Amino acid sequence: MNRIVAPSMLSADFGHLERDTRMVDASAAEWVHIDVMDGVFVPNISFGFPVLKAIRKATPKFLDVHLMIVNPEKYVKRFVEAGADLVTFHYEASDDPAACIGLIREAGAKAGISIKPATPVEALRGVLPQVDLVLVMSVEPGFGGQSFIPGSLEKVAQLRAMAREMGLGMIIEVDGGLSSHNAGAVYGAGADVLVAGNAVFGAADPQAEIVKMLNA
Ligand code: DX5
Ligand code: ZN
Repeated sequence: MNRIVAPSMLSADFGHLERDTRMVDASAAEWVHIDVMDGVFVPNISFGFPVLKAIRKATPKFLDVHLMIVNPEKYVKRFVEAGADLVTFHYEASDDPAACIGLIREAGAKAGISIKPATPVEALRGVLPQVDLVLVMSVEPGFGGQSFIPGSLEKVAQLRAMAREMGLGMIIEVDGGLSSHNAGAVYGAGADVLVAGNAVFGAADPQAEIVKMLNA
């Protein structure tokens, strides 16, 4: 798969959400990453359906929704209705990942599963054949602007090896602390999609930073 950058709208200026979404729409980023936090699964609250709908109106690009919420199965259908092309939920937040994947697919979107830094990739072995994507968190979920946890590189490599061994072609996405400084190493370890919040929206030229990440 070609390299993809997914700017995280969590770092956008919410007073100018349409402007920032259109900036991403006009950039080399193929995906747009949407972080939903409930204040329970993570110690922070971000936004939900109305904001997702507003972003959907401002771009036809692939909307990659990352749910950091408890009981994801209760809400996945509504996120698809609000415009998600892919819905990723946390392995740690679901009692029945297979059922949650089924609900996302039934609603008409692709399904992803995510693991926090302390969760080993091995925990996903059973569910891997069913998912379109695995999201490896390279910071503790909850906040933008944190530093990349170096051990995440090894997890990406392990996951890539596991996929090869099992004959699977799922997408591997990495999220947290990424920029053009470490993008080359993370793509090199086997990642397909890199999420970036602060690096993109904090750059003097966000569109140039996206290109730099793709070429890192
Ligand atoms: C963290 C979110 C990330 C975050 C990334 O919980 O899942 O998507 O916005 O932000 P940066 O790139 O600033 O680490
Ligand atoms: Zn995220």
